[in-house]
Parts: sequence; structure tokens; C-alpha cells
Amino acid sequence: MKSWGLLLVAALAIGSSFGVHKNNFKTCDQSGFCKRLRSFKPEKSQYSLNLDTVIVHGNVLSAEVNTVDTTTQKRIILWHYALRLSALVDGTFRVEIDEADPLYPRYRTQLALNGEPKADGLKIVSNENGIITVANSQGHKVIITAEPLKLEFVNLAGDVAVILNDNAQLMVEPLRVKKERVDDEDTNLVEVEEEGTWGENFKSHHDSKPRGNEAVSLDFSFPEADNVYGIPEHTDKLALRTTTSGDPYRLYNLDVFEYELDSRMAIYGAIPVVYSHGPKRTAGVFWHNSAETWVDVVNYADSTVVSSLVNLVTGGQKRRVDTRFISESGIVDAFVFLGEKPADVFRQYTQLTGSAPIPPKFSLAYHQCRWNYVDEADVRGVDDNLDNYDIPADVIWLDIEYTDRKKYFTWDPIKFPHPSDMVANLTAKGRKLVVIVDPHVKREAGYFLHEDATELGYYVKDKDGKDYEGWCWPGSSSYLDFFDPAVSKYNSERYLFENFPGTSKDVHLWNDMNEPSVFNGPEITMPKDCRHYKPPQDGNDGLAAFWEHRHVHNEYGLWNVRSTHEGMLQRVDNKYRPFILTRSAFSGTQRYGAVWTGDNAAEWGFLAVSVPMCLSLSVAGVSFCGSDVGGFFKYPEPELMTRWYQAGAFQPFFRAHSHIETKRREPWLYEAPTTALLRDANRRRYALIDFWYTLFYEHSVDGLPVMRPLFQEYPHEEDTFTIDDQYLLGDKLLIRPVVQPGVSSVPVYLPGAAQRTLWYDVDSYHAHHAAGYFTQDVTISKIPVYQRGGIIIPRKERIRRSSSLMADDPYTLVVALDVNGTAQGSLYIDDGESYEYRNNKYIYAKFKYESNAMTYSFPNENAHYPTRSWVERIVIAGIKTPPKTAKLHQGDKQLSLQMTLHKGNDVLVVRKPGANMAHPWKITFSY
Ligand code: GLC
Repeated sequence: MKSWGLLLVAALAIGSSFGVHKNNFKTCDQSGFCKRLRSFKPEKSQYSLNLDTVIVHGNVLSAEVNTVDTTTQKRIILWHYALRLSALVDGTFRVEIDEADPLYPRYRTQLALNGEPKADGLKIVSNENGIITVANSQGHKVIITAEPLKLEFVNLAGDVAVILNDNAQLMVEPLRVKKERVDDEDTNLVEVEEEGTWGENFKSHHDSKPRGNEAVSLDFSFPEADNVYGIPEHTDKLALRTTTSGDPYRLYNLDVFEYELDSRMAIYGAIPVVYSHGPKRTAGVFWHNSAETWVDVVNYADSTVVSSLVNLVTGGQKRRVDTRFISESGIVDAFVFLGEKPADVFRQYTQLTGSAPIPPKFSLAYHQCRWNYVDEADVRGVDDNLDNYDIPADVIWLDIEYTDRKKYFTWDPIKFPHPSDMVANLTAKGRKLVVIVDPHVKREAGYFLHEDATELGYYVKDKDGKDYEGWCWPGSSSYLDFFDPAVSKYNSERYLFENFPGTSKDVHLWNDMNEPSVFNGPEITMPKDCRHYKPPQDGNDGLAAFWEHRHVHNEYGLWNVRSTHEGMLQRVDNKYRPFILTRSAFSGTQRYGAVWTGDNAAEWGFLAVSVPMCLSLSVAGVSFCGSDVGGFFKYPEPELMTRWYQAGAFQPFFRAHSHIETKRREPWLYEAPTTALLRDANRRRYALIDFWYTLFYEHSVDGLPVMRPLFQEYPHEEDTFTIDDQYLLGDKLLIRPVVQPGVSSVPVYLPGAAQRTLWYDVDSYHAHHAAGYFTQDVTISKIPVYQRGGIIIPRKERIRRSSSLMADDPYTLVVALDVNGTAQGSLYIDDGESYEYRNNKYIYAKFKYESNAMTYSFPNENAHYPTRSWVERIVIAGIKTPPKTAKLHQGDKQLSLQMTLHKGNDVLVVRKPGANMAHPWKITFSY
């Protein structure tokens, strides 16, 4: 019998070709607050700061802001607001604007920040003529104009990098009590409530809006910027486009069936951070708000922006981008990043919201997934065939069908009667299992989870306070309210081994459908007037007793994965690192898991968009990103499948996945030449597994993207600003995946001409001088990957069945020389799975090559790891004058080494140095 979910998917697909059902999702005009606030474009802002109320205390300037009715002669104060401007470390400021005395507290996003932001000093520098200037301890300044309110953020070079409310779009709709007509006795003004204030309809759904309108908005201008980036997740370009025609970019976590390309529609993730960049500087703004949000972008250089607007706003200056955030609820809470380089703003953002911790090493290897591996025999067959066909793989995944009729934390008793044995069979080869657990709970009598949640009151409530019921994979379902600490704890405890029999430390988790997806809900999600837990406080009654789903929607999935993460730590007494994959994402999600781009399709366009989508997530803190390799819907023909494996092998999260109704497509099911190409792509991933691991270690320390846009490393090179079909891994490898069919060459942009950068083709060691675009010939086996001159990369050439079996294997070190004949690199080693690195059980080593010596040294002398790995080979590319002798020095040991020259005599191979990687060593060269 088909499951409800399948029936629904089938029903949605009937009678239509592939494509999104747009009318399931709101346009800006159908979203009350978006329509209302987007059209709000006053000539002058009504908001002004009361200079008499300014106080600086510690790192915070606070003051009263009022809205003033400017339509009459009399100065009538309409409403009071509280402004807080805080100076934070690292050139970041925070601006909060809330009602001074709201009817009841407005929602403040809870989980995005990684703890309380660190304060910097703040002092008033000047206060005259209605303008106050403050400075932080580094000397970044904020110029506050009182009337109308405007804040200009000045960087250390003295340039205004970000302006708030320059376009007068600051708006905080005050909370009100419902009245049909409001007559103000003092003013005789009659306030008529706008239609939709106390309720809105979309399709057959009614949103009761018990608090009425409570939207907020603010505009941010970036003078002298060429582009803005960020606000994932969309299928658009990395550099955001002007939105004056069509809808703004939308941020609202949604399960969009067959989502479309080149779109500003919301999909699964919503991360409200934007960065501006131009040749002079980079800046950014993090809009700390978890409600539905729309973002307008106006790039004055864009040909679609009429010149009268350019003249009006910028006085004819085309180098400027304006953005405007509109959210349905919450407060104005914006963090401003003053850069000044791209890497600075990316770091400023992860300083606030956290970086991904070092993932377990297996999770950086290849994952074999499908909806579904149908039973234990199927899993065994896939596992065996990976070996039979010599395809390295670390993980097999089980989708929803492993459960007993979609009841999570249970196993189908017929198809998966012996989960422990199945797991043991995998772990014997160093492989792991990942199983899915979605946040919806099947409403079935006798199902412990449903009975507990009902009895304990752990479900999200509907608008009337009853357990909310919606449809998802299991049919009638309810949803755990992770916002309640007791629910989160209860959910975490479900992951304890005694509560989830068949699992072990080698079984990891996939949290899907956590936008949350509700098949029969408005826009396939939870109604906004559903109720979530709010901590009880005195006087919390009526509307103040709960949060509505509208306030928290974009953070729901984050609460879900945080609870899972907690449970996975508990089950192993905090000893082993968990791996979690989530589909919904918000600011801070990166602290708990990896994110994938959801249900794509086996089409070339979806392969291509995997790069800008992951780049955009990556600069928004989510470095651990990937897309379904091969495409989820439809069947990839051999060429597409090959190109997708080749691309996936160089993206952080590398997992093949497919829809239950598509033809099976494990690598060995293709003709032998294709299987060989897929194998080759996987082997390349495994050869670089320690390189990836080192990149993620470095990310955990510095918070910089693993997968980087070119402009991050080449911020003055204007050609790089819009490149999003190629990218860098760290500052080390440049990747240009082939994402089109039938091509025999691709254009590749090699940055760094001004620095005389060399880029070595990793297949041939041929060195290209950076000079912008060149044409790279490609065959079906070619993956255009270039190692930057000046970089040393550790490789492992003995590819085995899984990454853990390669732990003690020897290294080949590839030294790509820069124009000065030097290079450096790094290598991180630990046990790959525990937290012992926190007790200094790791190696973070630096490589350095100069013509007279190559060294391997440990900057942190207290950190050690007893690896048995050794150096098998050193390949030095781009050598001008080869040395005559080479001698290894390690401890007391000295050894003369053999060398061979290759390829026009500019690749030197030092053979079998044999040095152990647990200790420093040095090789000296003589000429
Ligand atoms: C969702 C996921 C997909 C998964 C399916 C069944 O569509 O995005 O990856 O296979 O649910 O769980």
C-alpha cells in the first residue's frame, strides 16, 4: 500500500510537467505586511531621536526615538520607541529599535547568536547641531542624525560604509488593542483599521493574526558598493539582483516541491545576512529576525534602475546598492559589519552566530543515499557492491521507509528486523549509517512518542490552544514544540541508545521536513497563528502567554537540530562528534549540522546552481553544504551523472541521493566507462580527505568559508565580483566544475595576475600564469582544478573502502611553487571522531618550502597525536633549479633521499622520505 506521503507527491505531480506550483506560495502582494510596507516610501522619515534622552552606559548608547506627525503644523508625537546602539568587538555594531512601552513584549529571536556578543568600548566623540558622533575603541564611528533619524557607519579609513534609514523606510508597527474605530480625543484624528489588520486569507487558509499588524522594516545603503551577496537560500545568482521589477527576495523556510531556478522565491533555508562589496571596501548587515522576511535590492549600476531614481538617491553616483528588510514581526535588530575586506565581514558574522565545529571525518567523505534502501538485504547489497566496484564510500543512508510506518525511533519489523547486525556489518568496513528522523509525529494510538507528547502537552498548539494537527509523511501528524526546554530535553533523550535500539555511536542523523513541512498547511507549512511555548513570567496571560509561529518560523528547524545535537552528545557521554544533516537552515544552524539544497532534479541547471547556492550559504556561515548528487527527481543520463559526481567531489557535503520513484542509479548500474568515471571522482575526493579535514579544522578556528567566492581572496579584482560558476577551497584550490553537456572546453578565470599568481593544473602540474580568462580543454574525465602556486597540499594516494581505513596511510605532499620558488601549507590530524582534540590530542602542522629546505613543524608544541602516517613522496612542481642532494632530518635520524625529475624537468619527486608525521621533520637541499 502506498503511504500518504507518496499519494500526496503523486497527486501533486499528476497532470503537470515538472515545475513548481507557484500559486501554493505567496507573492509579496499576497503577504499582507510585504504589500503594506513595500509601498511605504515617505519622502522623509517620521522617526526622530530625542537628543535630551541620550545616555551612554558601557558599550551602549540608548535614546528615545519618536514618530512625529509631520502632516500638521503642530509637532505631534505619535509613538515612543527605544533605540540601543551597542559597540561590539571586531568592528561590529548592533542597532535595536523596539517600542518603548509595548502592550506586551515583542519577540526577540532566540537561538541565532552563539552566546552574548562581546562588547567593545563606546564613547561620544561629538554632539552638536542635532548630530551625535560615537566611536568604538578601534575608531570605527557612527554618525547619528537626530531628525529625521539616520545612522551612518564609518570605517577606519574614514569612509561611510553603511547607512541606516537613508531611504526613510524605518518602520515599527506598534502593537495595538483591537478596536473597530479609534477616535483620538486630543487630535480628532480618526484611525480606521486597514483591512487585513486582524486577519488575512491565503487560498483556503485563514490567519487569525490575534496581535494585529506588527511588522518592522529598515533600509540599509552601501555607498560605493558594486554588489551585494548573501540572504540564502535562493536559486538565484551569488551577486543579488535588483528587485524593482518583480518580488523582493523572500526568506521563509518552505518545502517547495520542484523548486524553480533563477528565483527569488523562498525555499528551505532563510539566513538574513547581506554583504556589500566594491573595490574600496566590504561591509555587511545581519538582520536578526526569525519571522517571514522580504528583502529588496536596488543596485544603481543596474540598467533596470531608471536614471531619475539614481539621481534622486545618489546624485548620479551609480556605485551604490540599497537593500531593505521587511519582517512580519519582532523588533528592528541589525548588526552592522564594517569589514573592511570580505574575509572580515564573513568572520564578523560567524563571530556572532558561530562556526561549524570540526565534523567527524567520515562525514567529509562520500555518502550513498536513496529514498530508499528498502531492506537489510538491499543495504548489504549496496555495501557489497561499493566494494565489488571499488567505489570508496563512508556512509549508507536510510530514508523514511526504514521506520515502522513513519514512526520515528522505530524500525520496520519486517524489512529491518536486525538493525544492530546491519550496522555492525557496515562498521566492520569503517562505514557508518545515517537514519532520518523528521520532526512531525504520527498521531497513532499506541505510538509511544505520540502518547507521551499528547499526555505531556509537548506539541505545538493551534490558535485555540489545542494540539495542532497537520499532514505529513505519516498522514495525520503533530509537531514537537522544541521551544519548550522540557520538549527539547525529551526529544534529545529519544536518541539515547536505550531509547533507539539498533543505533550506536556509528549511526548518525538526518533531520528533514523541519521548515516545518505540513502538506495541508498554508504554503505547505505551519499556520502562523499556531502557538509555541514561552517561558512563564509574571503577568504572562492572554497574548503574552505564548509566541505565535509567525514569530519563530525561520528558527523552528534550528531548535529541532539543536535538540538532536544535544541528544547525540548525551548518548555517548559527550565523547563523539555527531553528524546531522538538516534541510531547513537559519543563522546559527552551522553550529549543529550540515545543510543540503533539498529536492533538486537531474537537470543541468540544477547541477550548475549547486555552486552559487552553496557559495551563498557558505558566506552566510554554512560551509558544510552540498546538493543531491545526480539530482533528486528524474534520472541522470551518464554524462550528467559523471559531471555531478565530479562537481560533488569538490563540494563540502558529497552525497548521492534520489527519489523513491526514480530508476536506481548506484554507480555500478551505469555502463562500465561511466562507473569508472564515477569511481575516479570518488577517488579524487578520498585522495584529498585530509585536505578537506584540515580546511574544516581551520574553519572551526577562523570562521571563514571553506568554499569561497573568488572575490574573498581577490577583493580588488573586479572581474571576480560576479563569478559564481567557479570557487576556491580555502585559498588553495580553484575549482571550475563542468556543468554543461557536450562541451570540449570551458572558460576558466584565473585570479591574481597583479600578484603574479601561478595556478597549477592538478592533473598535469602545468603552471598557468594568472591572467583572467583562459580556455581549458576538457574531456569527459577532466575536472578543472588548479592548485595555487605557493601552496602545499597533503594527499593520500592509496584509496581504500572508507576514509577511516586510510587513517594510517602515507602522504604525498604536493608542493606548488610560487614565482619566488616558495610554498607553504597546513595539515590537521586527530582521531577523526572524538573530542580528544580539546585535550591537545591533535596535530596542526605547518609545511614550509624554500629552496634550501622543506620543514614540517608544530606551532602548538603542546598538541600531539600519535599518527602512524608517514611521507611517501613529495612532488615539487614549478622547480627552476633542481637541487643535487636532499637529506631528511627527523630527531636523530638523517637520511639521504633519492629524487627524480619529470616533465620538462620542472617537477621534482622526492622519493620515500619516510618521515613519520607524528613528529616534526626537515629536508635540506643542496645545489
Ligand atoms: C524530502 C527530502 C528528501 C527525502 C524525502 C523523503 O523530500 O527532501 O531528501 O528523500 O523527503 O524523506
